[in-house]
Amino acid sequence: MAFFNHHHLEDRLVPTITFVRENIQVEVPVGDSVRYPALENDVPVYCGIFKFGNCHGNGLCGTDRVAVSPSTNTNPLSFMEKFWLRGDLKKNPNMRLACQVEVLGDVTVDTQCKQ
Ligand code: FES
Repeated sequence: MAFFNHHHLEDRLVPTITFVRENIQVEVPVGDSVRYPALENDVPVYCGIFKFGNCHGNGLCGTDRVAVSPSTNTNPLSFMEKFWLRGDLKKNPNMRLACQVEVLGDVTVDTQCKQ
């Protein structure tokens, strides 16, 4: 009978998000966005009034801007990200929308709100 060690496999496939400014590390399922893990851990992705006026993760408001690296551990930029971030990307090619970026491996996230 074949024995398959699920636990060991899962251990290797669980990516870690490191929120640099907040000094918080979170393990997430492959393909998760940055938005929920951030909100769950009180990491600010919406700055100022956008805390209350955002689109709840649908890619429509463009306010949940964070820098995510390395890009090789994420999905390619979504259509909505190319639209909203067209200015930001010239200054920082790692800029993403927290609700659109999919985490495929270990990444670091730099939040952008002024404190
Ligand atoms: S939450 Fe509105 S674009 Fe991400």
